[in-house]
Amino acid sequence: MEIEIDDGAEQQQQPIPLLTPYKLGNFQLCHRIVLAPLTRMRSYDNIPQPHAILYYSQRATKGGLLIAEATVVSETGRGYPATPGIWTKEQVEAWKPIVDAVHAKGGIFFCQIWHAGRISNYSYQPNGQSPISSTDKQLTFKVQKNGVDDYKYPPPRRLRTEEIPEIVNEFRVAAINAIEAGFDGVEIHGAHGYIVEQFLKDQINDRTDEYGGSLENRCRFALEIVEAVSNAIGADRVGLRLSPFADYMESGDSNPAALGLYMAEALNKYGILYCHMVEPRMKTVGEKFECADTLLPMRNAFKGTFIVAGGYGREDGSEAVAKDNADLVAYGRLFLANPDLPKRFELNAPLNKYNRATFYIPDPVVGYTDYPFLETIA
Ligand SMILES: Cc1cc2nc3c(=O)[nH]c(=O)nc-3n(C[C@H](O)[C@H](O)[C@H](O)COP(=O)(O)O)c2cc1C
Repeated sequence: MEIEIDDGAEQQQQPIPLLTPYKLGNFQLCHRIVLAPLTRMRSYDNIPQPHAILYYSQRATKGGLLIAEATVVSETGRGYPATPGIWTKEQVEAWKPIVDAVHAKGGIFFCQIWHAGRISNYSYQPNGQSPISSTDKQLTFKVQKNGVDDYKYPPPRRLRTEEIPEIVNEFRVAAINAIEAGFDGVEIHGAHGYIVEQFLKDQINDRTDEYGGSLENRCRFALEIVEAVSNAIGADRVGLRLSPFADYMESGDSNPAALGLYMAEALNKYGILYCHMVEPRMKTVGEKFECADTLLPMRNAFKGTFIVAGGYGREDGSEAVAKDNADLVAYGRLFLANPDLPKRFELNAPLNKYNRATFYIPDPVVGYTDYPFLETIA
């Protein structure tokens, strides 16, 4: 007997490209909607807190990839209040129940490992010392204090050449600690003006040793971290986040397209799992500016999984996957405000609006775990 197929109905049942499965190295993803790393500043004394168990497990789905918030690799890496660390035993132990909760829901969880470099001040540094960086150039960003301009960030101390391996090693140890905590892998934070970008970008890096000057030299630090971390935990557990086009915290580059392409090609040597790039339209961390620049040359050059982030919604995220411009799409603000984002995308349901005022407050619930799920909206 012939069965009649209604093409229209079949068409409707096709999942949108974002909701199709994907093999991320050894991990079988059920969809392509990734939780972007989101600093939430609720980890008091740099210790991950029990309230993060609920926060991350709310956003976990079977076969969904979550990237944890920027997690500090060492005491000198701190630059903000209440960001989690992963350099002490206590921090590693505190991450364990959070990671377990994500795994219990079938999620895959990567830890973003991070050093703030010069985006820090004396109060976050051991013994009140100067923050460290590729440079001794101070950020020009000022705040008003008692009616006079006051620099928010003090001049950093330029790392000596022979000190650089110590920082590379901090990332390596942090990666080992992340695996000890149960994470499935790590994402090296090479974006948004922090220490890795302080080497990558020519607006900041003014070194004259082998870590400064040419593109090859400026990328050396990032690639040494990639190599050290890959050797320690396996390249199949390593991702790198880059934002060549961003100009966050005075971190512009005179030729971001060349920088992005150089890195994408250089990464192939290490065989890392993924490269996560922030779209050129995200000049800063949270604002979108349309522009003609594109990540396509980097997508085409890099042989592993390519994740894009920055200003995506349901339609253009699906389009990016359908056109093969990206394998996975990371969502920041929408996932922050919609714990059930994959479900909402599946149903094409309305989205909760994010509240910028509660992004970084220390409250363990408000703006953190109290965004409603679809079922709870009457
Ligand atoms: C509250 C907040 C915290 C963020 N924290 C981080 C972070 O820890 N690490 C990082 O690489 N990017 C961070 N970002 C950038 C996001 O990962 C993402 O790239 C950005 O929000 C753009 O994506 P979206 O348009 O989907 O929000 C943060 C953004 C926001 C809004």
